[in-house]
Amino acid sequence: MSTKGKVIKCKAAIAWEVGKPLCIEEVEVAPPKAHEVRIQIIATALCHTDAHVIHPKFTEPIFPVVLGHEAAGIVESVGPGVTSVKPGDKVIPLYTPQCRKCKFCLSPRTNFCAKLSRVKNLIADQELMEDKTSRFTCKGKPVFHFLGTSTFSQYTVVSDTNLAKIDDDANLEKVCLLGCGFSTGYGAAINIAKVTPGSTCAVFGLGGVGLSAVIGCKAAGASRIIAVDINSEKFTKAKALGATDCLNPRDLHKPVQEVIIEMTDGGVDFALDCAGGAEAMKAALECTTVGWGSCTLVGAAIDDKGLTISLTDLLTGRTINGTLFGGWKGIDSIPKLFTDYKNKKFNLDALVTHTLPFDKINEAFDLMYQGKSIRTVLLF
Ligand code: APR
Ligand code: ZN
Repeated sequence: MSTKGKVIKCKAAIAWEVGKPLCIEEVEVAPPKAHEVRIQIIATALCHTDAHVIHPKFTEPIFPVVLGHEAAGIVESVGPGVTSVKPGDKVIPLYTPQCRKCKFCLSPRTNFCAKLSRVKNLIADQELMEDKTSRFTCKGKPVFHFLGTSTFSQYTVVSDTNLAKIDDDANLEKVCLLGCGFSTGYGAAINIAKVTPGSTCAVFGLGGVGLSAVIGCKAAGASRIIAVDINSEKFTKAKALGATDCLNPRDLHKPVQEVIIEMTDGGVDFALDCAGGAEAMKAALECTTVGWGSCTLVGAAIDDKGLTISLTDLLTGRTINGTLFGGWKGIDSIPKLFTDYKNKKFNLDALVTHTLPFDKINEAFDLMYQGKSIRTVLLF
C-alpha cells in the first residue's frame, strides 16, 4: 500500500534535552510539501557536529530535535514541483543546500548558498522547513529538524535543494559518508587548501573529517603529511591512509607548532584544522610557513575561545580560510564523488570502524566520545 500523501509512523532517535542520551521513539513524519522530498533513510553515520547539539556550550539549544546529517536513503515520495528526483531514487541528504538561484550558487567561487544566510547559529541551522514548520511530531509535540537533514529517523523530509541523487547501484551503507565526514575533509584539502604536488601538509584532528583530509592531501600529491592528534590510537589508520609523520602534542616538550616548524625547515605549506578548538586552530595557523603558508579551518570550534590572529601572522604572507562541506556544491558534486568512489579513487571503507543497528545509537555516541571509532554506521 502506498504511503504517498499519508503521515508515516516510524522510528526515530529524539534528543529531548541537553546532556541526555537520545531516546528511540515512534514519530509521525508528515508528507512532503512543495519542493520537499520524503526519504527512507537506510544508513546514517554519526559526526561530532551532532554531539555539539546534545552538549551545547556556546550555541542556542534546539530541543526536541531529530539530529543526524551523514546518511543515504531512498526517495519515498516527492512534493509538488520536485523534478530532480523520483520515488525509488537513491539519494544523499545535504546539510549545505544548493538552491542554484542565489548569487553564491551562481558563482563557481563558493559552495555557500544564501539559504544558509538566515542562519545565526551554524549548529542549529535549518531547524525548520522553509515554511517555518516541522514535518516531525512526537507524542503530540512538534520536533525540530537539524541542518536540513535529520537523518536519525527511518523517514525524514528534506528540501529538494538539500538532496543529491546517486546511481542505483550505490551501496548506501558505504556511501553515507559522502554526506559529511569524507566530503568535508577531502574537499577541504582539494578545493579549499588546494594542496599542491610535492607540498608539505599538517592535519590536526584524525577523526573521520581529518583522516579524509589526509586522503585528500595524498591524492593531491603532497610529499609530506604530518598528522596530529591528542589520541595516539588514531595514528595507525592515519599512516595507512597516507600520513608520513604522526605527532601527539601531549607527548611533546614544546608546542606542536614549534616541532612542525623544525621538522619542515620553517613550517608547512598547508595546514588543516579538523579538530575544532582554540588550541588546534592556533597550532595549525602557526605551523604554516611565512611567505605562503595556508591554514584551512574545518572543525566546528564552538566550545571554546575561538582563534585570535595576530597581524604579524598575516602580514608575513600567510593566509587563512575555512569551509563548510569541503567547498562542494552538493547537488553537482556528490554524483561525481560517488563515481570517483566507484572507480576506487579513494577508500571510504577504511573510515567505517563500526556498524551497528540504529537502536544502538547511544552506544555509537559513546564510541565517538571515547575516541574508539572513526565512523559508526547505523542501519535501520
Ligand atoms: N589537537 C589535535 N587533535 C585534537 C585536539 C587537539 N587539540 N583536540 C581534539 N583532537 C582530535 C580528537 O582526539 C579526535 O581524534 O580531533 C579528532 C576529532 O575527531 P572526531 O571527534 O571523530 O570528529 P569528526 O567527526 O572528525 O569532526 C571533526 O568537526 O564538527 C567538528 O567538532 C567537530 O571539530 C570536530 C570536527
Ligand atoms: Zn558532519
